[in-house]
Amino acid sequence: MVQETAILDRYGVVGYPVAHSKSPVIHQQFAEQTGESLIYELVEASPDDLESVARQFQRAGGKGLNVTVPHKTRATRLVDELSESASIAGALNTLKFDEDRIVGFNTDGIGLIRDLRDNWKFEIPNTRILVLGAGGATQGILAPLLDLEPAAIVIANRTVAKADALANHFGALGAVEGMRFNDVRSVEPFDLVINATSAGLSGESAPFPKEAIRRGHTACYDLSYALHKTPFVAWAEQMDAGRTRAGWGMLIEQAAESFRIWRGIQPETAHVLNRLPAAN
Ligand code: ATR
Repeated sequence: MVQETAILDRYGVVGYPVAHSKSPVIHQQFAEQTGESLIYELVEASPDDLESVARQFQRAGGKGLNVTVPHKTRATRLVDELSESASIAGALNTLKFDEDRIVGFNTDGIGLIRDLRDNWKFEIPNTRILVLGAGGATQGILAPLLDLEPAAIVIANRTVAKADALANHFGALGAVEGMRFNDVRSVEPFDLVINATSAGLSGESAPFPKEAIRRGHTACYDLSYALHKTPFVAWAEQMDAGRTRAGWGMLIEQAAESFRIWRGIQPETAHVLNRLPAAN
């Protein structure tokens, strides 16, 4: 008797480096939970090799890739079509391979909003928000935050020209202003401070502005996550912030949205979040 071997749909995450990624574990849990059959791999590609590696993955039957550091901006050049979220952000984190076409999406923004609003119960409308950092991560979250009509968003960055450029670019969507870390001293404290610098990843500590924090009130959210307490979360606790959270929830929510785009099924995130290390 001939036994038929099912060929599983292939997905993966492409980055450089990528070995540390938790995405395979998360997507495997989503697949088990929804009864979908798929495999999810780690795909390492240097910036120079990104295009050839992604096209090779597609030719070999790959159905989709998550895209992580440092490729989120560069990957926009690979696609035949960009979703609205990826187009506004100028960066993507999800590729969907449809026959010969590649479509790019950005699920980071919706991932952050779902974690902030639905999981953490932080209400964004009418709040003052400080975003630290003006790189690719900030680019991905500004439009979805502005959509929810905060009173104001300030972007503070070591290189102020990059904060100003983002403030200009997104200014049409709401009140957003760029400044230096030091300038934060002269403005009102914030309701929410989001760390979108990559400082913690390299073990450096950034000069986070303490004047941003109102003791016992300000919520501090780190887009980074780690098995130990992140430097930003540790700093926020020292400053007596109202509450703190590292980016595990955003990681899982952005993955759930990618899974939905690929498979057409919305996985449930709460039990995956409960099973991953909660650092704070
Ligand atoms: P990502 O895609 O993670 O946003 P990125 O585009 O390289 O990565 O941006 C990194 C951000 O972290 C930048 O805002 C960077 O500040 P500069 O624009 O001045 O380079 C910020 N950053 C990284 N290390 C930092 C540090 N030690 N102190 C302050 N800011 C830092």
